[in-house]
Amino acid sequence: MAKRKAVVCWLVLCVTVIMVSNARDANGALPAATLKAIAKANADGPYLGIVIPNLFEMNPLLNSSSYKAAEIIDFAGRRFRFGTVEEKKVILVMTGLSVINAAITTQLLLSFFDGKGVIHYGIAGNANPALRIGDVAIPLYWAHTGLWNWQRYGQGPEDELAFESDGDYTRKIGYLRFANYTVKAAACASHDNLLNNVWYQSEEVFPVTGTPEERQHAFWIPVSYAYFAVARQLKGLKLESCINATTCLNYTPSVNTVFRGISAGIRLDNAAYRSFIYRKFQVSPVDMETASVALVCHQQNTSFIAIRALSDLAGGGSAESNEADTFSSLAADNAVAVVVEFIKNLSSSMLYWQD
Ligand SMILES: *[C@@H]1O[C@H](CO)[C@@H](O)[C@H](O)[C@H]1NC(C)=O
Ligand SMILES: *[C@@H]1O[C@H](CO)[C@@H](O)[C@H](O)[C@H]1NC(C)=O
Ligand SMILES: *[C@@H]1O[C@H](CO)[C@@H](O)[C@H](O)[C@H]1NC(C)=O
Ligand SMILES: *[C@@H]1O[C@H](CO)[C@@H](O)[C@H](O)[C@H]1NC(C)=O
Ligand SMILES: *[C@@H]1O[C@H](CO)[C@@H](O)[C@H](O)[C@H]1NC(C)=O
Repeated sequence: MAKRKAVVCWLVLCVTVIMVSNARDANGALPAATLKAIAKANADGPYLGIVIPNLFEMNPLLNSSSYKAAEIIDFAGRRFRFGTVEEKKVILVMTGLSVINAAITTQLLLSFFDGKGVIHYGIAGNANPALRIGDVAIPLYWAHTGLWNWQRYGQGPEDELAFESDGDYTRKIGYLRFANYTVKAAACASHDNLLNNVWYQSEEVFPVTGTPEERQHAFWIPVSYAYFAVARQLKGLKLESCINATTCLNYTPSVNTVFRGISAGIRLDNAAYRSFIYRKFQVSPVDMETASVALVCHQQNTSFIAIRALSDLAGGGSAESNEADTFSSLAADNAVAVVVEFIKNLSSSMLYWQD
């Protein structure tokens, strides 16, 4: 009888343990085995983090002869791939589309791993008329341009924005006026638009070195100056111009360090907005992730750079075809070629430079 009771107790205990561990797996808290694997990996660190939007952009790196794969740690719906690029220890991680996924993934990478520098790469739209499809752009500054204060109809640039006096919003960065993009209104003496104006806003940031809950603001985030200096040396790198034996660009793409890039949760395929943001902000690459990676690295005081290959003209090309359909694989390959060369050129003293 006592024996039977013991067996029942043991079963209850087992079931409880299973339920507890299942509960752990099902919600966000990390299982002990994962924490242990992370600690073990960190004992071999530090690593250079390579943050990549999707598999389409990661595959050419996985396939590169410069990459050697080691172990994998999966958690929070993400896969952290350990290995080396040009013999330097790296962690590769895919974010998924757009600003929220990019921020979450970068934060997980920096919070859990001994990853002191971050390289972000992928493909992008191009707003700069001086650059071409297949070119690689490496901006000095990045901003998130999807945080807006949308002004009510009837108010204009002289009117204070809602909550501006609290320091929540600003008119310093500038605005987009919808009425400026009216077409087929030639017969009207004047025209207006109920959508009125949207004002670009800086992000609230909470630096790791600051006081928790005390916000700062940031719009343009610089990349690491040390990394940027290395990127400048890549100008002469030879890039691919063909996607296969028969389809080629009629020029050789180049590597360019540029002034600025922007990101937002917006897939841009519109010529009018493209020329507006180029005139307003002098931006080259336009994408959906980099500014998030930049903001998280800025808050975490971690060196960062982004390398984006231009796959389309963000709406500035021909009306019928979006060039991304044809040249996105070429752009992804060129981005990887530049990332590999960049890592090769990083001296070990510079690997985890903080500036
Ligand atoms: C690597 O390239 C080969 C040949 O192009 C392809 O079949 C394979 O799917 C690629 N692997 C990855 C991980 O992209
Ligand atoms: C709207 O168009 C006018 C006239 O071309 C121009 O002066 C003004 O800068 C434009 N405003 C914005 C916010 O784009
Ligand atoms: C970096 O790479 C470029 C292009 O491959 C090369 O020309 C340059 O000499 C390299 N610079 C350093 C410091 O290794
Ligand atoms: C090369 O790529 C183009 C565009 O995707 C395609 O139309 C063509 O059939 C391809 N040619 C070869 C030889 O694979
Ligand atoms: C970032 O870290 C470096 C060295 O670890 C330090 O010198 C620097 O002041 C920090 N920057 C900020 C903004 O806290």
